Amino acid sequence: MTLKQRLQKRKSNKFTTICVHLKSKASAPGKVILFGEHFVVYGVKAILCSINKRITVTAEKINERKISIQSNIGSLELEPNQPIIEIDSPLKPFYYLANKVLQNEESGIKIQVESQIPTGVGLGSSSACCVAGAAAISKLFSEPSKEEILEMAIEAEKTIFQNTSGADCTVCTFGGIMEYDKENGFSKIESEPNFHLVIANSNIEHSTEKIVKEVKFFKEKNENVFSNLCDKELELINDVLELLKKNKIKKLGEKIKQNQKYLETIGISNEKMRKMIHVGNEISFGTKITGAGGGGCIFALTDDTNLEGTLNQFKEKNYECFSVKIDFQGLNTF
Ligand code: MEV
Repeated sequence: MTLKQRLQKRKSNKFTTICVHLKSKASAPGKVILFGEHFVVYGVKAILCSINKRITVTAEKINERKISIQSNIGSLELEPNQPIIEIDSPLKPFYYLANKVLQNEESGIKIQVESQIPTGVGLGSSSACCVAGAAAISKLFSEPSKEEILEMAIEAEKTIFQNTSGADCTVCTFGGIMEYDKENGFSKIESEPNFHLVIANSNIEHSTEKIVKEVKFFKEKNENVFSNLCDKELELINDVLELLKKNKIKKLGEKIKQNQKYLETIGISNEKMRKMIHVGNEISFGTKITGAGGGGCIFALTDDTNLEGTLNQFKEKNYECFSVKIDFQGLNTF
């Protein structure tokens, strides 16, 4: 069901109790795109999962007429009703959300952000911020559904990345492992695969917006190559959906390596990431970039037999790495 259909269904059955909270808290997980990043922007299916690293947002109503945001990446304090376009801060989505709910209110909002997810490396820290932010902030004045929170989160994400496919916010809201496409929305994958992902960070910060623009440029210059890659990606993803049902982890690893080749072709890799992927492939089942690329993280697929070996392999070469599992909870509100 698409987000629009979910929202319509919710609106038609709506029986809302408006609760007012002085303080509210929400947490949302980060994510890994397992297959299909970039191609998903052009309508191809992607497979993604949320991970057991979270962002927690606390929002509090205050008497003073201001929006104040504190986080480990800095702070922002402004009066409401400032033009969003003039705000130059990665915390802009929080301002957007707070400003929106304050439209008919006299008060202000104080927001505190705590994060376990490194920023700007493809692990969904900005989407998790948008989702947890939308939930915590809106719950000060109403009781929105998850679908409504997702809609607000995507609007907020668009203040920093206009052309988002919506995939990242969707998985951060609903959690688990899912297939997603722009037209049909998401569908959860019911099997609960028991793999571990080893994440290694290139420590090259990237801007998703910039890399997505570069891919658009590649597509415009190479229409046939790109369209052929979209077909191949879709074929690969349909195979992956079958492999996931049968829990064929080694074969999934081969598909990961294949997907990485497509990402190399569209130009989102670099020398350092290729070296890291080579290291990951020595012991894991398969390694690829996750998210926008051009920096950020790669992940290696492992199970209990090669998890430690893969971590050690990265550590020996001095790459920052850690392992994650799928989070099945998604957005959580307190
Ligand atoms: C970024 O995490 C994923 C991209 O496919 C962009 C998007 O889906 O919006 C590169």
